[in-house]
Amino acid sequence: APVVDPVAPVLAWYDEHARELPWRAPDRTPWGVLVSEVMLQQTPVARVEPAWRAWLERWPTPADLAAAPTSDVLRAWDRLGYPRRALRLQECARVLVERHGGHVPDDEAALLTLPGIGAYTAAAVRAFAFGRRAVVLDTNVRRVLARAVDGVALPAPAQTVAEVARAAALVPADDATAARWAQASMELGALVCTARAPRCPQCPLASSCRWLAAGRPDDAHAHRRR
Ligand code: ADE
Repeated sequence: APVVDPVAPVLAWYDEHARELPWRAPDRTPWGVLVSEVMLQQTPVARVEPAWRAWLERWPTPADLAAAPTSDVLRAWDRLGYPRRALRLQECARVLVERHGGHVPDDEAALLTLPGIGAYTAAAVRAFAFGRRAVVLDTNVRRVLARAVDGVALPAPAQTVAEVARAAALVPADDATAARWAQASMELGALVCTARAPRCPQCPLASSCRWLAAGRPDDAHAHRRR
């Protein structure tokens, strides 16, 4: 079968359908992007948006958060859930102040040493805050690629080295386009290629998607997911 190249159609779709989210606005800061990604790790966009605005208004820089009483930080995190993330975000702010002059680094190795920042978040910060080429592979992007390229309903439960390598091969060479591809593929997974009710008629990959062409077969891993 021919190799499916989803990049161009998904970029064109994103130009028309991207949500305006505050951490995507031109006046965003790297710190704002980092905070958004930590919040979005386990909390939906609708709940993150107001919390993110309030948080950045109160603590606009890493130095502001580093200096805050931890009890205030936990109270402000409140309904986002998984409060350990708030503690790690404050630790992260302190490390940024102590080792990085109060700034978010754009270097992958430096990002990976920060509390609460794993491979996904480091890649997301590099792409979304600094416009750098990075392999941004969250559950949304993994699902889009599983369907469009592999023709299966859902990605395997655990990410593999081979999956990362194949995703990396799709990332456009140019930094700015790579960063837009990361946003766009994530947005397609969030808005169209959803886990439970995919909107295939609205999908820019409908004519090439291997999963749709195969009649949307059920998840091969379903028996292991219960
Ligand atoms: N989920 C994780 N990162 C996101 C982002 N930058 N925009 C929307 N949803 C996201």
